[in-house]
Amino acid sequence: MSKIKTFYQCQACGYTSPKWLGKCPDCGVWNSLVEERQEAKALKSFGKSEPQPLSSITGGNEKRTSTGIKELDRVLGGGVVSGSVILVGGDPGIGKSTLLIQAISRLAEKYGKVLYVSGEESPEQIKLRAERLSINSNSIILLSETTLESVIDVASSMKPWAMVIDSIQTVYTQELVSAPGSVGQVRECAAKLMFFAKKSAIPVFLVGHVTKEGAIAGPRVLEHIVDTVLYFEGDRGHSYRILRTVKNRFGSTNEIGVFEMTDSGLAEIENPSELFLSERPLNVPGSTVVASLEGTRPLMVEVQALVSPTTFGMPRRTSIGVDFNRVNLLIAVLEKRAGLHLGGMDIFINIVGGLKIVEPAVDLGITTTIASSLREIPIDPKTFVFGEVGLSGEIRAVAQAEARIKEAAKIGFKRAVMSKTNAERLKNSFGLEIIGVKDIEDALEAALS
Ligand code: TYD
Ligand code: MG
Repeated sequence: MSKIKTFYQCQACGYTSPKWLGKCPDCGVWNSLVEERQEAKALKSFGKSEPQPLSSITGGNEKRTSTGIKELDRVLGGGVVSGSVILVGGDPGIGKSTLLIQAISRLAEKYGKVLYVSGEESPEQIKLRAERLSINSNSIILLSETTLESVIDVASSMKPWAMVIDSIQTVYTQELVSAPGSVGQVRECAAKLMFFAKKSAIPVFLVGHVTKEGAIAGPRVLEHIVDTVLYFEGDRGHSYRILRTVKNRFGSTNEIGVFEMTDSGLAEIENPSELFLSERPLNVPGSTVVASLEGTRPLMVEVQALVSPTTFGMPRRTSIGVDFNRVNLLIAVLEKRAGLHLGGMDIFINIVGGLKIVEPAVDLGITTTIASSLREIPIDPKTFVFGEVGLSGEIRAVAQAEARIKEAAKIGFKRAVMSKTNAERLKNSFGLEIIGVKDIEDALEAALS
């Protein structure tokens, strides 16, 4: 069909073969052969290639355009940069298409034509969604097309302000014979779109489904190609969604945007702490509020624990939203350093709202919650904690204590338990009672009183 020669290369060892093979004969890895194009020189470099001193390079003040959705701007690092390629990944049905159509409708209103290429849904289906979102615009141009070459032709002649490809797994380039969605196709298409974006200065949004490993390639294989990677997270059972920056060449990573899926699309949540604490049971054992930090953004979250006697031989330990090994480690610290008897207890830990917390500041919250549930003593609802717990039971300082306290004060907390070092370094207590603790025993005493 195509004149361009392709070959199959093992992604593990680099072995090449003219035909696809299920197992690499060289290194023995299964399913590692991916179709590649023979001449890679077709992708030219983006700019001048002579060596030049750093100081002579102008630019760096890349133009950012607000999408009109504050939470999206935040994760993009302040807005869309022209010529950037932004990958929005997430499980099917999480709201990627909804978010992008909402974003481009505002861009289209302000800056003119935006091209929406859909290989997944028909224009009628997109129209239905747009109606639900009350979006109706002459400037949103829909294109049902899956051949990348045609998409780029249309975009080159139309010169839209921005372009959306929904999804990268449905488009394919004629230069490769492998099926759309395969690793080779997805990578090649993304690389071509990247080249197009840089040449034309048109920002390109790519939708990528997160899929199980297999024939269909997920967004992970493109992470190194694109400029910005955003992941949409959330629980089917909950209506809120978190948009997280995983990579950003034009801003900081670890930023999050919080949305709620309503019947009229995604709504921005400007004050997520209030939302995550809204259904908190008061004066119940096994619930602690932790001042955590997502990127630069303080977020108050509730950590729940249920400690109950084991009925079978082996105690069960389950954690949702925090690292399981971390929880086991903290249980051991509680046993050894605070003398809690947890050996015959099932322990379940949950971060409310489907959130995932990775920073160690949540440690203190996990330990106090377990102790609270074990001893059946509720923690005062106006108290919150944060701090890292070390293996010898010491409470360690964490970054940005003031930002955390400020957020807590804003939503009405009165008492903060943190590491002694954090407490001593604090310049402003925002009217809160500050309790600095040295070790786990002190911390439990302060929190459970
Ligand atoms: P969608 O954006 O199609 O998901 P994706 O592109 O990530 O696969 O949206 C998925 C879900 O969102 C769908 O199950 C219906 C729901 N939804 C709402 O609840 N409200 C709305 O206004 C819209 C448009 C969708
Ligand atoms: Mg979709």
